[in-house]
Amino acid sequence: MLTIAVSKGRIYEEALPLLEEAGIRPVDDPKTSRKLILQTTRDDVQLVIIRATDVPTFVEYGAADMGIAGKDVLLEHGAESLYEPLDLNIATCRLMTAAHKDAPDITRRVRVATKYVKTAKKYFAELGIQADIIKLYGSMELAPLVGLADCIVDLVDTGNTLKANGLEPRDLIMNISSRLVVNKAAMKMKHHAIQSLIDQFEKTLAKR
Ligand code: ADP
Ligand code: PRP
Ligand code: MG
Repeated sequence: MLTIAVSKGRIYEEALPLLEEAGIRPVDDPKTSRKLILQTTRDDVQLVIIRATDVPTFVEYGAADMGIAGKDVLLEHGAESLYEPLDLNIATCRLMTAAHKDAPDITRRVRVATKYVKTAKKYFAELGIQADIIKLYGSMELAPLVGLADCIVDLVDTGNTLKANGLEPRDLIMNISSRLVVNKAAMKMKHHAIQSLIDQFEKTLAKR
């Protein structure tokens, strides 16, 4: 049995066509079902539905053989303990700094609200900017509006969320997409099954 960890929402939705091409169609729909383990049209493959930030943890411990996770999540988790064989090029966006449109440029010291604490620390350290990081779990865009932070580090896609809150994108930290990650032991023990899935995904991606 191969267990694949996926998060509900955009990653699940965008992964479905890739899985389908590999003959994997979930029997239940996570939008309507409360089940956390989804059987699929392939007897040897099941999906586990978890929070996006938990995917690297499940795969690292072998609770899932493989998973799909955003590069933002992998960076923050530290992905040395996982194989990352494939960029699936889904759920693409940018990890950026953003600030109020009238706020001055960041120079020497800055208060940053983000859920990406490690990544933000590293980014500002490399620029030689002293950053005081405030960890949030969501709604980062609010922080500069209420004086909690000078800027945020968050994901930007269309820019609509920033705009709706009077913020503007500032600097690009990294282009983000979702990656296939594989447990290191599973890669050895279930090599044939995993490698053939990787090959199938690669073939589908090459056609895009
Ligand atoms: P969460 O509940 O953790 O926010 P999401 O489904 O929103 O879960 O995000 C999962 C992954 O999708 C993120 O780690 C990121 O890589 C990507 N992502 C998040 N927001 C966007 C967006 N607005 N557009 C495209 N990709 C996104
Ligand atoms: C993500 C991200 C930004 C927004 C950016 O939020 O955290 O807030 O998308 O996308 P945009 O540039 O197209 O507006 P998401 O929709 O995932 O909401 P949530 O994570 O707060 O539930
Ligand atoms: Mg989100």
